[in-house]
Amino acid sequence: MTAVPSQKLLAIPGPIPLSPSVQQSLALAPLSHVSPEFVKIFQESLHMTREVVKADASSTAFILAGSGTFGWDQVGANLIEAGDRALVLRTGYFGDGFKECLETYGAQVDVIKSALGGAVPLNEIEKALKQAQTISSKKAYKMVTITHVDTSTGVLSDARAIAACVRRLSPNTLVVLDAVCSVASEDVQMDAWGLDVVLTASQKGLGAPPGLSILVASQRTISAFENGIKRGVKSGSFYSSWQKWLPIMRAYDQNKPAYFGTPAVNLVRAYHASLLEITKGSVSLSTRLSLHIASSDLIKRTGERLGMKQVATEPAGRAHGMTALYVPEIPGVPLTAADVLACVGKRNVVMAGGLVAEVKDKYIRIGHMGWSVVGNEGSDVRTVVRVLEESVLEAIALAKKRASAVVSARL
Ligand SMILES: Cc1ncc(COP(=O)(O)O)c(C=O)c1O
Repeated sequence: MTAVPSQKLLAIPGPIPLSPSVQQSLALAPLSHVSPEFVKIFQESLHMTREVVKADASSTAFILAGSGTFGWDQVGANLIEAGDRALVLRTGYFGDGFKECLETYGAQVDVIKSALGGAVPLNEIEKALKQAQTISSKKAYKMVTITHVDTSTGVLSDARAIAACVRRLSPNTLVVLDAVCSVASEDVQMDAWGLDVVLTASQKGLGAPPGLSILVASQRTISAFENGIKRGVKSGSFYSSWQKWLPIMRAYDQNKPAYFGTPAVNLVRAYHASLLEITKGSVSLSTRLSLHIASSDLIKRTGERLGMKQVATEPAGRAHGMTALYVPEIPGVPLTAADVLACVGKRNVVMAGGLVAEVKDKYIRIGHMGWSVVGNEGSDVRTVVRVLEESVLEAIALAKKRASAVVSARL
């Protein structure tokens, strides 16, 4: 076998580098999706998924082939009936996607948009919920969606406080958490916080390659779905339909084979390997979260020392698995995100550019999740810090040179 060529260190907010055991599991030949060996792997994966989001066995976990976006689609297709109202709390680019998805299934969506880099203020959420209730109980929101960490801004929302507010003011409203960029890098307590749906994906804190949509639905959510079915509501999609997938997930959950569409057996095996590390490895889940906080602090401090402001403005509202940093603003020195990223690339590291349209060229995003934080005794994080420092200083020097060349050409 030829050796796999060495790659640049991936320091984007997902996909992330894989642990050796996850990587090795990917090299194995496919298993039959109905073999006892695979059924056991799937069962354990469903159970460990619930463990990571702190949900008990009354909830239902879904592991389906698809990316994080497919979680939005499952919510839209199975929980939205045409005309239902939804409230989307938007803290960046990904709130827009969720809104569009829910509208595709006929939802009337209200959006509360935070200021760039901020979270949605709780009093605005309260106001919207009260207003919806006063119109008529039929007009209450079917769901409120929260992006736990918006990967475009690095803003961390206080899911616990928002869920408590929704439960208090609009008890029948489902609380849906887009936790694509937070599961296993932030604390997520599905049951204790009263979340109804936690949807995520394999390629970020969960430490597997992209390709799996992972969703946990509370009993309340499944009841809401099943009540719809009893009233004759049909899922708006064939592949997303929980009418198709629920019996399959329930069977696997009980260690029994079942079929609707072939599961992504190799990805599930890789995900299982990662879940074993997260839930039963030498680093406990709580230590894992502390390591994310420590790495995040180090990277954020480094950026600030280099004159880079954080996109996420509030200290308590900053993600721990990623960092979004504006490039330094130096009068007379035109510096863009692309300038910094080019210097980063020269050092065999990949960081990401901006995603929020109005400031897209002014900031970079750095991922520090999963194996990059927990593995290799932190050496990836140290590399990221060194490369960030060197690259920003080099990019500034190059931009200064360019600026002075322009001045001399004019003279
Ligand atoms: C917060 C959030 N939600 C949803 C998505 C969509 O996930 P995917 O790109 O896996 O479809 C992403 C992707 O990065 C994300 O960060």
